[in-house]
Amino acid sequence: MLDSFIEGLPKVELHLHIEGSLEPELMFALAQRNQVALPFKSVEEVRKAYNFRNLQDFLDIYYQGMSVLQKEQDFYDLTWAYLEKCKANNVLHTEIFFDPQGHTERGVAFETVLNGITRALDDGQKKLGISSKVIMSFLRHLSEDDAFKTLDQALPYKDKLAGVGLDSSEKGHPPSKFEKVFKAARDAGLLVVAHAGEEGPPEYVWEALDKLKVDRIDHGNRALEDDKLVARIIKDGLALTVCPLSNLKLCVVKDMKEHPLKKMLSLGLKATVNSDDPAYFGGYMNDNYKAVARALGLEKSDLLTLARNSVAASFLDAAEKEKLLQKINAYALESEQPCNINIKQSTPAATDKKSNNP
Ligand code: ADE
Ligand code: ZN
Repeated sequence: MLDSFIEGLPKVELHLHIEGSLEPELMFALAQRNQVALPFKSVEEVRKAYNFRNLQDFLDIYYQGMSVLQKEQDFYDLTWAYLEKCKANNVLHTEIFFDPQGHTERGVAFETVLNGITRALDDGQKKLGISSKVIMSFLRHLSEDDAFKTLDQALPYKDKLAGVGLDSSEKGHPPSKFEKVFKAARDAGLLVVAHAGEEGPPEYVWEALDKLKVDRIDHGNRALEDDKLVARIIKDGLALTVCPLSNLKLCVVKDMKEHPLKKMLSLGLKATVNSDDPAYFGGYMNDNYKAVARALGLEKSDLLTLARNSVAASFLDAAEKEKLLQKINAYALESEQPCNINIKQSTPAATDKKSNNP
């Protein structure tokens, strides 16, 4: 019942690493096309290796997986495969991250990556009606100098980018390490987001707010350890892009029943649901919504709130947001209809009437 409600719900995704949507089947196909040797014999063997104790375990395999992406067409195929998943999951708008340094450090040119991704996204709008934005992420385990070099490479393509983000190994790499490059990105007119409080402490979330001046927080789970921080995030009206299946797979939560999403909503935080790296974490948007709905006993009204939060927190303009909100509102009304009819039909009065009038 709730499963079909989730499947039909118009959704927006705000936290998706395009390289994390590389399914093992495509990984193998691209490895063959580009003559890249993989340390796995089969798709099954790859999936078996997806057992992570923490974020770093995952990142080691994630960067290795990227090695098959070499030509513009590879990035196109990767992005197109993700857009087909969006279609199947009723995701109408998506804001995707890419990790340029994961490619440029292997000798793949920045424009090769960006052109492949944006060509697919343009086709996604034309052929599937899915709108999108692109966020370029800096790898936080690398230096701020390296991030500056990447920003310089990106600025000629600024019109193709909505913003910059910060990802990779969180612990030991606080947001303050990137204060200057984030200022330069903001000065260039880009929006800014950062992964914070996924594994790192609440202090990193404070730094994302105060030093990077983020427009959204990616994850933010550990913000709940600090009441003052929660109050500040609410006061600033910032959204959290929460990734339930990712949190489970990376042991950020031990059990989905312990996931803080419901608490976030009850505190008044603008939480959203996202898939992060769906090929590695066992599910796309519908799977993420279903997993939290089941484990936390969410109701339709919670699911509608989550979907509306994503629209509100997106980087779309006001008119585009309004259109999406209307779609969600229409769906909410439409999905109430059959329920009301059923209730009426099964009321004692209705049954009595029937039996009195053979
Ligand atoms: N890069 C890809 N997925 C990530 C995640 N969940 N956290 C940090 N960096 C990432
Ligand atoms: Zn992420």
